[in-house]
Amino acid sequence: MGHGKWTPELEIGIPFVDADHKVLVGLLDQTETCIEQNEETGLLGSVLSALAEYVSYHFAREEKLFEGCGYAAADFHIKIHRDLETEVLDLCRRFKDDPQSVEADEVRDFLHDWLVEHIVGHDFAFRSACIGNEEAIAVAAAMPFFSGGGDKAGTTPKWGSLRVLVVDDNPNMLNIIKTILTIGGIGNIELTESAAEGLALLARRPADVVLCDWVMDDMNGAEFARHATEMETGAKVVLLSGHSIDVVRQRSAGAGIAGYLEKPITATGLLEMIAGLLPPDRS
Ligand SMILES: [Fe+2]
Ligand SMILES: [Fe+2]
Repeated sequence: MGHGKWTPELEIGIPFVDADHKVLVGLLDQTETCIEQNEETGLLGSVLSALAEYVSYHFAREEKLFEGCGYAAADFHIKIHRDLETEVLDLCRRFKDDPQSVEADEVRDFLHDWLVEHIVGHDFAFRSACIGNEEAIAVAAAMPFFSGGGDKAGTTPKWGSLRVLVVDDNPNMLNIIKTILTIGGIGNIELTESAAEGLALLARRPADVVLCDWVMDDMNGAEFARHATEMETGAKVVLLSGHSIDVVRQRSAGAGIAGYLEKPITATGLLEMIAGLLPPDRS
């Protein structure tokens, strides 16, 4: 099997389950692309982390559904979930310890097992027990990937109108950030590979948050932030870097940076950073 692509025979017929499976297939595809293109570890590590985080979230949603439907084979299915979860976490851990130890073939095999054996083999088994139980489906579907935390835990932040601009000269990094923002419930996203184009976009349409790479071809992140601050659009600029945050912080002092994230990033870490920058009524 080549890159993971969604096919109609993977469709279970329960919308949130199918939506989750599409996200997972997309993340596995991004993982494989990054490995094949020999991407920097900060990027591949970010994709693997988002994959592991989404796997856990998806399993929790399916298990919530089993509970609501009184699915008889739940224990057996949950055991398989724990095994797959362990496999993903092990992949992430090995990558963190030694990036060279994670190979494209292994990810491709995992992808195949995931798609064919789990979705088609096991997930289809709960279909008849759960389909039509709208109440149980609604409860599981309402579980957010990211909640604002604290007293807002369990609810998706009100991010409907939030605009996020992402500036990064690596299209694979743009891709994973877009995936993370989307699963976090942010729909208003603009992406650009060019810092100059990013400033032009900002001048045309203000953004609430700008996520900007530190090292780019046409200008570095500090320069970008300086220009963005001068434009007085009110956008909060967050710098993402594979370098140590202390070094980047020193080198970008006075540029008006609202936050720093070191790659590899985690999906929840990025969403938490955004939530923390917004006024209370927006997060
Ligand atoms: Fe599933
Ligand atoms: Fe499952």
